[in-house]
Amino acid sequence: MNLRFTEEQEMMRKMVQDFAEKEVAPFVERMEAGEFPKSILQKMGELGLMGIPIPEEYGGSGMDFTSYIIAIEEISKVSATLGVILSVHTSVGTNPILYFGTEEQKQKYIPKLASGEYLGAFCLTEPSAGSDAASLKTRAVKQGGDYILNGSKVFITNGGEADTYIVFASTNPNAGSKGITAFIVDKNTPGLVIGKNEHKMGLNGSKTVQLTFEDMRVPLENRLGAEGEGFKIALANLDVGRIGIAAQALGIAGAALEASTAYAQERKQFGKPIAMHQGVGFKLADMATAVEASKLLIYRAAHLRQNGEKCGKEASMAKLFASKTGVDVTTEAIQVFGGYGYTKDYPVERYFRDAKVTEIYEGTSEIQRIVISKHL
Ligand code: CAA
Repeated sequence: MNLRFTEEQEMMRKMVQDFAEKEVAPFVERMEAGEFPKSILQKMGELGLMGIPIPEEYGGSGMDFTSYIIAIEEISKVSATLGVILSVHTSVGTNPILYFGTEEQKQKYIPKLASGEYLGAFCLTEPSAGSDAASLKTRAVKQGGDYILNGSKVFITNGGEADTYIVFASTNPNAGSKGITAFIVDKNTPGLVIGKNEHKMGLNGSKTVQLTFEDMRVPLENRLGAEGEGFKIALANLDVGRIGIAAQALGIAGAALEASTAYAQERKQFGKPIAMHQGVGFKLADMATAVEASKLLIYRAAHLRQNGEKCGKEASMAKLFASKTGVDVTTEAIQVFGGYGYTKDYPVERYFRDAKVTEIYEGTSEIQRIVISKHL
């Protein structure tokens, strides 16, 4: 494994850093007030950021997977809200169609998703099926040339704003995980009801909604993969999605580390910068080490993925470690800032609120441990 990024990957990092600084940073306050960043997503589409690893033949940027992970890391340093929107849109909103769709489905949806004209969402979780995703209750019953879907979903990132929803429903409840089937649902499908947008602790500019399917008719041509193949489609794409969420956590932790290091050199107590006190200096050293270790796990998982190798265990390890790093480093960042860190005058309290969910969505830390231990 080469531990140096290529010139192309470094260019992606620089481009996203510039974009985040010029376009995203001035918008952060509006996202914090709850505004969905539609105009920013449009600009990201123009720059090719909404389809980074999607092949050019389907309208994507045709770049490697590592470049995509770099983009999530850099965007998340400035806005974790945008980080999750981008990650969900690409990893679990677009990739399932790319890897499991028919040629017609790919031609119909991918160019629009990759250009940012469409936004994607992924609908697996239900009120009583979170970690135990295979116990989902949404039913899909075949009727003529269509399926009729009934059920409800919760915590759907991009819900209400998305143009396409990858929906998982049971076509055979007696078959457990082998009875689950995936569908591509267009936003204007009658019977698709957008419910409450959750008031969250962080990621204030992203949408997290409840969805209800009321006799929602989905044509056969929108079934994704074969009947019963849905659970495999969900988990295979989550393997990859988890590297994206790990990169989001890394971005947040990196931002908290940078802010803390700068502040500790500026802020003086007992006659010297607080960084020169061992209590603070050692904190910064531990934070930097955890960030670096996360980086290595994440880019190793990305490297495997990019080379078409299995990466489920490595993706789960990266997410487990990076999300814990996100929470630990942002907690310590507030400690370095002291009372100021607890106020909204500094960004570290936002980093802290944004980091926590990375230990929860796309599989909790406990689920990552299940995945890793099964591999062992
Ligand atoms: N790729 C492909 N197939 C897989 C797989 C993978 N990574 N992992 C398991 N499978 C297959 C298995 O091979 C098995 O099929 P066979 O019997 O034919 O071998 C089938 O799926 C069932 O596997 P398990 O018996 O291991 O399944 P399980 O019911 O015990 O669940 C689990 C395993 C790991 C706990 C899984 O349910 C899981 O990952 N749960 C967490 C769900 C999750 O991550 N939800 C996130 C929601 S999306 C989200 O958060 C997005 C957002 O908006 C931010």
